[in-house]
Amino acid sequence: MNATLSALHVAGKFIVLDGIDGCGKSTQLHMLQTILEQLGAAILCVREPGGTAIGEHIRELLLSSKGEGLNMRAEMLLYMASRAQLVGEKIRPALAAGHTVLSDRYVSSTLAYQGSAGGLPIDNIMHVAQAAIDGTWPDLTIILDLPLEKAMTRLQSPGKSAKKKQPPQPGLFQDRIEQRQQNYHELVRQGFLQQAKNYPDHYKVVSAIGTPDAVFQRVQAAVCEYFTAA
Ligand code: TYD
Repeated sequence: MNATLSALHVAGKFIVLDGIDGCGKSTQLHMLQTILEQLGAAILCVREPGGTAIGEHIRELLLSSKGEGLNMRAEMLLYMASRAQLVGEKIRPALAAGHTVLSDRYVSSTLAYQGSAGGLPIDNIMHVAQAAIDGTWPDLTIILDLPLEKAMTRLQSPGKSAKKKQPPQPGLFQDRIEQRQQNYHELVRQGFLQQAKNYPDHYKVVSAIGTPDAVFQRVQAAVCEYFTAA
């Protein structure tokens, strides 16, 4: 990490990593956690949907076949319910204690998946988000951007994550959202890029092409630049 970044720069700060399925955000989040801990930062790492006992129940409903038949509005509200619980139970107390919070996905995912790709109006989602998170917006959201074909290739190679250790047989290892058509995921990607254009002060787009180490160089640079800027 750049010598000028210290644990103090990120104390009480909230950083989100987001992007399309297969962009490598979980790996990058883990690498960021490790390096910030080496700087002496106290880190809370969370993932969405889930991250609390209640949220994990909601996650199962959302991502397994149990969620078949959910309409887009109900789906959006469930992601937000999981998030409301996570914010109240973990994120807000950690920020108040001066910890750095790293989250794998957040409101940005709902805007992209249920809004830009799912067709729900963005301002509807923003209103629900405001109620769900009550002002707990991230300081920085890093979008890991990757062409869809590359993301699909990554998702199809076995052993990329715990749940994807099985052979690449469609339907066996893909969750309910990942199974949606390619066009849906392209709209998700464009949705993330649009958010970054709309909120340039709080978003940074990082290319997720290349090895995890190469991508992490860019992630580090983005974090450093954002938190050490005057
Ligand atoms: P993901 O981060 O891919 O979990 P994992 O790495 O364990 O597979 O998230 C699960 C899926 O949920 C993913 O396809 C994106 C989707 N999702 C939404 O559609 N809306 C949301 O608000 C969130 C947080 C996730």
